[in-house]
Amino acid sequence: MNIESALKYSSAILNEQRSGEILLAHILKKPRAYLYTYPEKNLTPEEVNSFETLIARRKQGEPIAYILGEQEFYSLNFKVTRDTLIPRPETEMLVDEALKLIPEAPCQVLELGTGSGTVAVTLAKLKLNTYVIATDISNAALEVAKENARNHQIKNIEFMISDWFSNIKSKTFDMIISNPPYIAQDDPHLENLSYEPMNALTSGVEGLDDLSHIISHAADYLKPNGWLLLEHGFDQKESIQTLFKNAKFKDIQTLSDLAGQPRITMGQKAC
Ligand SMILES: C[S@@+](CC[C@H](N)C(=O)[O-])C[C@H]1O[C@@H](n2cnc3c(N)ncnc32)[C@H](O)[C@@H]1O
Repeated sequence: MNIESALKYSSAILNEQRSGEILLAHILKKPRAYLYTYPEKNLTPEEVNSFETLIARRKQGEPIAYILGEQEFYSLNFKVTRDTLIPRPETEMLVDEALKLIPEAPCQVLELGTGSGTVAVTLAKLKLNTYVIATDISNAALEVAKENARNHQIKNIEFMISDWFSNIKSKTFDMIISNPPYIAQDDPHLENLSYEPMNALTSGVEGLDDLSHIISHAADYLKPNGWLLLEHGFDQKESIQTLFKNAKFKDIQTLSDLAGQPRITMGQKAC
């Protein structure tokens, strides 16, 4: 089997081309362009064997990020495992907004539900004046996040196991940021997310339990004028804005993602 025939084989099985390209490039440790520069290059029997195995996993529906064990986020490479959510492009917008709001002076950021650590590590890497405390309820996820912080040589970060605010003692954060679980527990889309950890995805009947908990307690941990930034579902804007108002936040704004769906709400703690 050569590269060209391997790609024909995977396209026929998967009914699409991209996965086969990514997986074959991964096995050959080459960029995808190499596949089209050297289509006649023969694969070794080990490479054929590995390719067939990965294509079979993909055919079963396993996400590419779990097969590769990595995912790009904010142009940085992150390890992911079945214990961590696969970071989504929408969450890059959460980071964009946080970067705009983080002051130049030394400041403290709390990330709740860090998963593989993408948000916390990216903020700590790009804002060296920031000290980030990143929490999760999952020890297994925190181990992955710590590895990602080590791989990116991040020093201005600390990881903590915590059920939302339960282990947070400091009340002096300039910013609290979170992409918590926000899918309703009986949402039919969950069927397509069966490889990802359920406790990273669902949050009660309407998907609002964790968001509601975070919004109603956040002000207790923020400095005056500190920011709360949250990612949420496209249909949760009204509920989230009401929760922010009830918790006495000011300057409440909801931003839409690239698909035009309301996705991020932020507000500032009143003095
Ligand atoms: C939607 S994922 C977000 C992961 C990562 N921050 C990202 O944006 O890709 C939600 C995360 O919240 C964590 N989580 C769920 N319940 C939690 C709780 N009660 N306390 C702290 N973290 C929790 C999950 O383990 C998961 O890592």
